[in-house]
Amino acid sequence: MPPRRHGFARRAFFRAAESLARALCGRAFYRARFLARGRLRLREERVEVHALAPALAGFRVAQLSDLHAGPFLGRGDLAHAVECVNRSHCDLAVITGDFITHRWSDALRVLDDLAALRTRHGTLAVFGNHDYRGRLEGRIAQEAAARGIRFLRDEALRLEHDGAGLWVCGLEDLEEARELDVARARAQERAGEPEILLVHNPGRARLLASPACALMLCGHAHGSQIDLPLLRRLGPPNPGARFSAGTTRVIVSRGLGVIGVPLRVRASAELVFATLEPA
Ligand SMILES: [Fe+2]
Ligand SMILES: [Fe+2]
Repeated sequence: MPPRRHGFARRAFFRAAESLARALCGRAFYRARFLARGRLRLREERVEVHALAPALAGFRVAQLSDLHAGPFLGRGDLAHAVECVNRSHCDLAVITGDFITHRWSDALRVLDDLAALRTRHGTLAVFGNHDYRGRLEGRIAQEAAARGIRFLRDEALRLEHDGAGLWVCGLEDLEEARELDVARARAQERAGEPEILLVHNPGRARLLASPACALMLCGHAHGSQIDLPLLRRLGPPNPGARFSAGTTRVIVSRGLGVIGVPLRVRASAELVFATLEPA
Protein backbone atom coordinates (compact mmCIF):
# COMPACT_ATOMS: atom_id res chain seq x y z
CA MET A 1 0.00 0.00 0.00
CA PRO A 2 1.31 3.50 -0.65
CA PRO A 3 2.45 5.02 2.67
CA ARG A 4 0.49 7.98 4.00
CA ARG A 5 2.54 11.16 4.16
CA HIS A 6 1.36 14.41 5.73
CA GLY A 7 2.24 17.95 4.71
CA PHE A 8 4.39 20.31 6.81
CA ALA A 9 1.44 22.34 8.14
CA ARG A 10 -0.41 19.30 9.39
CA ARG A 11 2.68 17.83 11.03
CA ALA A 12 3.44 21.17 12.70
CA PHE A 13 -0.13 21.40 14.00
CA PHE A 14 0.02 17.90 15.48
CA ARG A 15 3.41 18.56 17.05
CA ALA A 16 2.10 21.74 18.68
CA ALA A 17 -1.05 19.97 19.94
CA GLU A 18 1.07 17.13 21.32
CA SER A 19 3.47 19.48 23.13
CA LEU A 20 0.60 21.41 24.67
CA ALA A 21 -1.20 18.25 25.80
CA ARG A 22 2.01 16.88 27.24
CA ALA A 23 2.58 20.09 29.22
CA LEU A 24 -0.99 19.79 30.56
CA CYS A 25 -0.29 16.32 32.01
CA GLY A 26 -1.87 14.56 29.05
CA ARG A 27 -0.33 11.22 29.95
CA ALA A 28 -1.80 11.12 33.47
CA PHE A 29 -5.17 12.22 32.06
CA TYR A 30 -5.09 9.52 29.38
CA ARG A 31 -4.22 6.78 31.84
CA ALA A 32 -6.96 7.77 34.29
CA ARG A 33 -9.62 8.36 31.63
CA PHE A 34 -8.95 5.50 29.20
CA LEU A 35 -6.67 2.82 30.65
CA ALA A 36 -7.79 2.49 34.25
CA ARG A 37 -10.08 -0.11 35.79
CA GLY A 38 -13.65 0.50 34.63
CA ARG A 39 -12.46 2.67 31.73
CA LEU A 40 -10.60 0.21 29.55
CA ARG A 41 -13.02 -1.68 27.32
CA LEU A 42 -12.76 -5.49 27.43
CA ARG A 43 -14.18 -6.65 24.12
CA GLU A 44 -15.22 -10.28 23.69
CA GLU A 45 -15.38 -11.72 20.17
CA ARG A 46 -16.57 -15.22 19.30
CA VAL A 47 -15.09 -16.56 16.08
CA GLU A 48 -16.87 -19.46 14.43
CA VAL A 49 -14.53 -21.76 12.51
CA HIS A 50 -15.58 -24.52 10.11
CA ALA A 51 -14.17 -27.98 10.83
CA LEU A 52 -12.38 -26.76 13.94
CA ALA A 53 -10.48 -29.52 15.72
CA PRO A 54 -12.21 -30.22 19.06
CA ALA A 55 -8.96 -29.44 20.89
CA LEU A 56 -9.05 -25.89 19.51
CA ALA A 57 -12.64 -25.17 20.56
CA GLY A 58 -12.39 -22.44 23.16
CA PHE A 59 -8.86 -21.38 22.12
CA ARG A 60 -8.63 -17.84 23.43
CA VAL A 61 -6.43 -15.04 22.13
CA ALA A 62 -5.86 -11.69 23.81
CA GLN A 63 -5.06 -8.89 21.37
CA LEU A 64 -3.28 -5.69 22.33
CA SER A 65 -2.67 -3.11 19.64
CA ASP A 66 -1.44 0.41 18.88
CA LEU A 67 0.30 1.10 22.18
CA HIS A 68 2.04 4.20 20.84
CA ALA A 69 4.45 4.42 23.74
CA GLY A 70 5.73 7.96 23.99
CA PRO A 71 4.25 11.22 25.22
CA PHE A 72 0.92 9.78 26.37
CA LEU A 73 1.74 6.21 27.33
CA GLY A 74 4.71 5.04 29.34
CA ARG A 75 6.03 2.77 32.05
CA GLY A 76 3.27 1.30 34.21
CA ASP A 77 0.39 2.66 32.14
CA LEU A 78 -0.46 -0.79 30.77
CA ALA A 79 -0.46 -2.45 34.19
CA HIS A 80 -4.24 -2.76 34.33
CA ALA A 81 -4.44 -4.07 30.75
CA VAL A 82 -1.80 -6.70 31.48
CA GLU A 83 -3.60 -7.69 34.67
CA CYS A 84 -6.85 -8.12 32.70
CA VAL A 85 -5.13 -10.43 30.19
CA ASN A 86 -3.47 -12.44 32.93
CA ARG A 87 -6.79 -12.91 34.72
CA SER A 88 -8.63 -14.06 31.62
CA HIS A 89 -7.01 -17.47 31.06
CA CYS A 90 -5.87 -16.86 27.49
CA ASP A 91 -3.97 -19.36 25.39
CA LEU A 92 -2.06 -16.70 23.49
CA ALA A 93 -1.36 -12.96 23.59
CA VAL A 94 -0.67 -11.01 20.41
CA ILE A 95 0.41 -7.43 19.86
CA THR A 96 -0.57 -6.07 16.45
CA GLY A 97 1.87 -3.22 15.97
CA ASP A 98 2.47 0.47 16.53
CA PHE A 99 4.53 0.01 19.68
CA ILE A 100 5.98 3.51 19.41
CA THR A 101 5.12 7.10 18.59
CA HIS A 102 8.33 8.84 17.48
CA ARG A 103 11.44 6.75 18.09
CA TRP A 104 12.35 3.10 18.55
CA SER A 105 13.45 3.65 22.16
CA ASP A 106 9.87 4.64 23.08
CA ALA A 107 9.24 0.88 23.09
CA LEU A 108 11.47 0.51 26.15
CA ARG A 109 8.78 2.32 28.16
CA VAL A 110 6.27 -0.51 27.66
CA LEU A 111 8.23 -3.69 27.00
CA ASP A 112 8.78 -4.49 30.68
CA ASP A 113 5.04 -4.24 31.30
CA LEU A 114 4.31 -6.40 28.25
CA ALA A 115 6.86 -8.96 29.42
CA ALA A 116 4.52 -9.62 32.36
CA LEU A 117 1.81 -11.02 30.03
CA ARG A 118 1.12 -14.63 30.98
CA THR A 119 -0.60 -17.04 28.60
CA ARG A 120 -0.14 -20.69 27.76
CA HIS A 121 1.67 -20.15 24.43
CA GLY A 122 3.31 -16.80 25.18
CA THR A 123 3.26 -13.47 23.33
CA LEU A 124 3.70 -12.92 19.58
CA ALA A 125 3.88 -9.58 17.78
CA VAL A 126 4.03 -7.80 14.43
CA PHE A 127 5.13 -4.30 13.53
CA GLY A 128 2.90 -1.36 12.67
CA ASN A 129 3.72 1.52 10.35
CA HIS A 130 5.10 3.68 13.19
CA ASP A 131 7.60 1.03 14.25
CA TYR A 132 9.80 1.46 11.16
CA ARG A 133 10.79 5.00 12.19
CA GLY A 134 14.48 5.43 11.36
CA ARG A 135 14.50 1.83 10.08
CA LEU A 136 15.34 0.72 13.62
CA GLU A 137 12.49 -1.75 14.05
CA GLY A 138 15.09 -4.51 14.53
CA ARG A 139 16.09 -2.87 17.82
CA ILE A 140 12.51 -3.14 19.04
CA ALA A 141 12.40 -6.81 18.05
CA GLN A 142 15.72 -7.43 19.83
CA GLU A 143 14.60 -5.79 23.07
CA ALA A 144 11.26 -7.61 22.88
CA ALA A 145 12.99 -10.97 22.32
CA ALA A 146 15.10 -10.38 25.42
CA ARG A 147 11.79 -10.17 27.32
CA GLY A 148 10.25 -13.28 25.76
CA ILE A 149 8.12 -11.50 23.13
CA ARG A 150 8.60 -12.89 19.64
CA PHE A 151 8.06 -10.89 16.45
CA LEU A 152 6.77 -12.68 13.38
CA ARG A 153 8.23 -11.01 10.31
CA ASP A 154 6.62 -12.63 7.30
CA GLU A 155 6.67 -15.98 9.03
CA ALA A 156 4.28 -18.45 10.56
CA LEU A 157 4.65 -20.37 13.78
CA ARG A 158 2.87 -23.63 14.50
CA LEU A 159 1.36 -23.98 17.94
CA GLU A 160 0.66 -27.46 19.18
CA HIS A 161 -2.45 -27.25 21.31
CA ASP A 162 -3.59 -30.45 22.99
CA GLY A 163 -2.57 -32.45 19.92
CA ALA A 164 -4.07 -30.06 17.34
CA GLY A 165 -2.07 -27.71 15.12
CA LEU A 166 -2.75 -23.98 14.79
CA TRP A 167 -0.67 -21.52 12.75
CA VAL A 168 -0.04 -17.96 13.75
CA CYS A 169 1.26 -16.00 10.79
CA GLY A 170 2.64 -12.47 11.15
CA LEU A 171 3.20 -9.98 8.34
CA GLU A 172 5.35 -6.89 8.04
CA ASP A 173 3.41 -3.63 7.76
CA LEU A 174 1.66 -3.12 4.43
CA GLU A 175 2.72 0.53 4.10
CA GLU A 176 6.16 0.92 5.60
CA ALA A 177 8.00 -2.39 5.32
CA ARG A 178 10.68 -2.52 2.64
CA GLU A 179 9.64 -6.05 1.78
CA LEU A 180 6.47 -8.03 2.24
CA ASP A 181 6.27 -11.64 1.20
CA VAL A 182 2.93 -13.19 2.04
CA ALA A 183 3.63 -16.41 0.12
CA ARG A 184 6.88 -16.95 2.03
CA ALA A 185 5.14 -16.20 5.31
CA ARG A 186 2.57 -18.89 4.66
CA ALA A 187 4.80 -21.44 2.93
CA GLN A 188 5.20 -23.74 5.91
CA GLU A 189 1.53 -23.93 6.83
CA ARG A 190 -0.14 -27.31 6.53
CA ALA A 191 -3.50 -27.94 4.91
CA GLY A 192 -6.28 -28.64 7.37
CA GLU A 193 -4.76 -26.61 10.20
CA PRO A 194 -6.31 -23.17 10.74
CA GLU A 195 -4.39 -19.93 10.62
CA ILE A 196 -4.60 -16.79 12.71
CA LEU A 197 -3.11 -13.92 10.70
CA LEU A 198 -1.58 -10.88 12.39
CA VAL A 199 -1.35 -7.81 10.17
CA HIS A 200 -1.34 -4.28 11.52
CA ASN A 201 -3.16 -2.55 8.67
CA PRO A 202 -6.62 -3.91 7.75
CA GLY A 203 -6.58 -2.12 4.37
CA ARG A 204 -5.96 -5.30 2.35
CA ALA A 205 -7.84 -7.74 4.55
CA ARG A 206 -10.00 -8.99 1.70
CA LEU A 207 -6.92 -9.86 -0.36
CA LEU A 208 -5.21 -11.60 2.55
CA ALA A 209 -8.26 -13.61 3.60
CA SER A 210 -8.20 -17.29 2.68
CA PRO A 211 -10.20 -20.43 3.51
CA ALA A 212 -7.41 -21.49 5.90
CA CYS A 213 -7.36 -18.14 7.66
CA ALA A 214 -9.97 -18.38 10.38
CA LEU A 215 -9.16 -15.12 12.08
CA MET A 216 -7.31 -11.97 11.06
CA LEU A 217 -6.29 -9.58 13.81
CA CYS A 218 -5.54 -5.97 12.83
CA GLY A 219 -5.21 -2.55 14.43
CA HIS A 220 -4.09 0.78 12.96
CA ALA A 221 -7.49 2.51 12.67
CA HIS A 222 -7.83 3.42 16.41
CA GLY A 223 -11.61 3.20 15.86
CA SER A 224 -11.06 6.65 14.27
CA GLN A 225 -9.80 7.80 17.75
CA ILE A 226 -11.96 10.95 17.62
CA ASP A 227 -15.02 9.55 15.96
CA LEU A 228 -16.75 12.82 15.07
CA PRO A 229 -17.56 14.36 11.67
CA LEU A 230 -14.49 15.83 9.95
CA LEU A 231 -12.15 14.85 12.81
CA ARG A 232 -12.53 11.16 12.05
CA ARG A 233 -10.91 11.84 8.68
CA LEU A 234 -7.62 12.82 10.32
CA GLY A 235 -6.65 9.20 10.90
CA PRO A 236 -6.41 6.24 8.55
CA PRO A 237 -9.61 4.81 7.05
CA ASN A 238 -11.61 2.84 9.59
CA PRO A 239 -13.22 -0.31 8.14
CA GLY A 240 -15.18 -1.00 11.35
CA ALA A 241 -14.50 -3.14 14.38
CA ARG A 242 -15.25 -6.47 12.70
CA PHE A 243 -16.25 -7.87 9.35
CA SER A 244 -16.10 -11.08 7.37
CA ALA A 245 -14.06 -11.70 4.23
CA GLY A 246 -15.21 -15.06 2.89
CA THR A 247 -14.83 -17.44 5.82
CA THR A 248 -12.20 -15.24 7.47
CA ARG A 249 -13.30 -13.21 10.46
CA VAL A 250 -11.47 -9.88 10.53
CA ILE A 251 -11.20 -8.09 13.86
CA VAL A 252 -9.86 -4.55 13.97
CA SER A 253 -8.80 -3.41 17.43
CA ARG A 254 -9.39 0.19 18.49
CA GLY A 255 -6.03 -0.04 20.23
CA LEU A 256 -4.71 1.07 23.60
CA GLY A 257 -2.74 4.25 22.86
CA VAL A 258 -3.26 7.46 20.93
CA ILE A 259 -1.60 9.73 18.40
CA GLY A 260 -1.55 13.53 18.51
CA VAL A 261 -3.81 14.24 21.46
CA PRO A 262 -4.56 12.10 24.55
CA LEU A 263 -8.20 11.88 23.68
CA ARG A 264 -10.67 9.38 22.30
CA VAL A 265 -14.29 10.06 21.44
CA ARG A 266 -16.69 7.16 20.78
CA ALA A 267 -13.62 4.91 20.44
CA SER A 268 -12.58 3.56 23.85
CA ALA A 269 -9.18 2.06 24.35
CA GLU A 270 -9.66 -1.68 24.35
CA LEU A 271 -8.38 -5.17 24.80
CA VAL A 272 -9.85 -7.77 22.44
CA PHE A 273 -10.44 -11.34 23.55
CA ALA A 274 -11.20 -13.64 20.60
CA THR A 275 -12.37 -17.18 21.25
CA LEU A 276 -12.49 -19.86 18.55
CA GLU A 277 -15.66 -21.92 18.41
CA PRO A 278 -16.88 -24.65 16.05
CA ALA A 279 -19.21 -23.24 13.37
FE1 LIG B 1 -1.69 3.25 15.54
FE1 LIG C 1 -0.71 2.25 12.45
